[in-house]
Amino acid sequence: MTRVAIVGAGYVGVCTGLTFAGQGHRITFADVDEARVDALRAGRAPFFEPGVEAALRRALRLRRIDATTDTATAVDAARWVFLCVGTPPTSTGSADLTSLRAAAKAVGQALAGRRDYPIVVVKSTVPPGTVDDVVRLTLEAASGSRAGHDFGVASNPEFLREGHALQDARRPDRVVWGTREPRTARRLAQLYARVRCPKIRTDPRTAELIKYAANAFLATRVSFANEMANLCERLGIDWYDVVEGIAPDPRIGPQFFRAGVGFGGSCFPKDLGALAALGRSARNPLRIVESTLEVNERQPAEAIRLLRTEVGALKGRRIALLGLAFKPDTDDVRETRALPIYRALRHEGADVVAYDPRAGESFRRLAPDAVIATSLEEALTGADGAIIQTEWDEFRRLRPDLLRRLMRTPVVVDGRRTLESRSMDRGAVRYRAIGLGRNGSAKKD
Ligand code: NAD
Ligand code: UGA
Repeated sequence: MTRVAIVGAGYVGVCTGLTFAGQGHRITFADVDEARVDALRAGRAPFFEPGVEAALRRALRLRRIDATTDTATAVDAARWVFLCVGTPPTSTGSADLTSLRAAAKAVGQALAGRRDYPIVVVKSTVPPGTVDDVVRLTLEAASGSRAGHDFGVASNPEFLREGHALQDARRPDRVVWGTREPRTARRLAQLYARVRCPKIRTDPRTAELIKYAANAFLATRVSFANEMANLCERLGIDWYDVVEGIAPDPRIGPQFFRAGVGFGGSCFPKDLGALAALGRSARNPLRIVESTLEVNERQPAEAIRLLRTEVGALKGRRIALLGLAFKPDTDDVRETRALPIYRALRHEGADVVAYDPRAGESFRRLAPDAVIATSLEEALTGADGAIIQTEWDEFRRLRPDLLRRLMRTPVVVDGRRTLESRSMDRGAVRYRAIGLGRNGSAKKD
């Protein structure tokens, strides 16, 4: 049983820790947030993520995990230290490394005098050069020891998705690590020996850029889909019919072409912003990355435009905003597209009633004046129109008869193609969706 310290108990930290606990290692989480530490110790997941609470309870029962606010306690006797703290954007869009520096300093102090070669691994998403120039130097200064001699340092970016975080952490499609130290590389190979997937071994800077390139490419596909979908909408073509025709090409494939109100979440907007900032500072502007962000910013307005074409002026109209989380199966509202949509609707004078199966409370922190219904039916009752912002399964049961019964005027703008368009039209409901094209659904019937 190997002792592992996880510094930063967010999505990445908790899922990484639970994965190692499942492999029989002994984990101590360290987090500056006392409430989070208390929750972990009590077996409560600090956020909603499928499977996390059950895995946490099991690991607690087996005495494989513990949590503390004191990083030194966690690092003491640990053979591995994973840094999983947040790297939010600064005002210029670059990655804010304040938490990472603080965590590295605390870890470094705890490593002073250790000669047993503990390894510090950076899982947070950080710009190329951070492990070499920030983390390694901070650890050396705080510990008085030498990287590669007394302890090891590596980059090991994380690719999990929220909503599937635990299963992604347990069964990754690849593991990437970057280190300049042969001893560290050997130990990483042992640590991940039982994980069956391609292992990419490289230097820290390359590993760091792999993470940004992956997110930038995925987000670019989404913005490409959105731009094409907007065109389809105007031409009366269904974007999904187009996808059907391009996806069988193995060079293209079907994934990440879902058009809608744009990408949100804690990573795509932040990581593309950081990459764009990196490009500018390297005097090599990344035009595709900048455009990807630009297209994304426009998508919420596309949903409002479709709503207006069906409802007319929105002033005084009651609009149901369905789905507040940035994606289904999470209560995370970071960079959710629900916020710009909510603000635009309010700006146009609409009375908005919002609903989300999980994220109502977290959305209230972003928009304290928001009216949040406790059920889908309550949000729809008396509404002049509805916008679906998150494709929760709960919304898939909406049928024209229910919409007609509850709503004053059954108008639905589907920002995520949640509903089956064929079941929606036929005059019962005015159903619009980004990229569907007014004629697209008629053609299919
Ligand atoms: P998060 O915001 O959910 O959690 C970060 C945690 O770190 C918080 O609990 C915070 O209290 C804690 N923290 C901050 N400073 C600390 C310190 N000095 N010492 C100890 N704890 C400290 O973050 P997250 O979503 O898990 O993301 C963490 C990193 O992983 C980010 O760089 C992110 O870009 C990257 N990442 C996230 C995901 C994801 O799906 N959320 C996926 C891949 C990579
Ligand atoms: C994303 C990546 O998929 C992960 O590999 C990565 O580890 C993570 O970012 C990260 O670095 O944090 P996540 O943000 O959890 O994961 O969720 P995604 O499923 O990628 O969705 C991101 C956003 O894009 C959501 O708002 C989603 O609705 C939107 N999206 C996604 C689309 O609009 N269309 C699509 O086809 C796919």
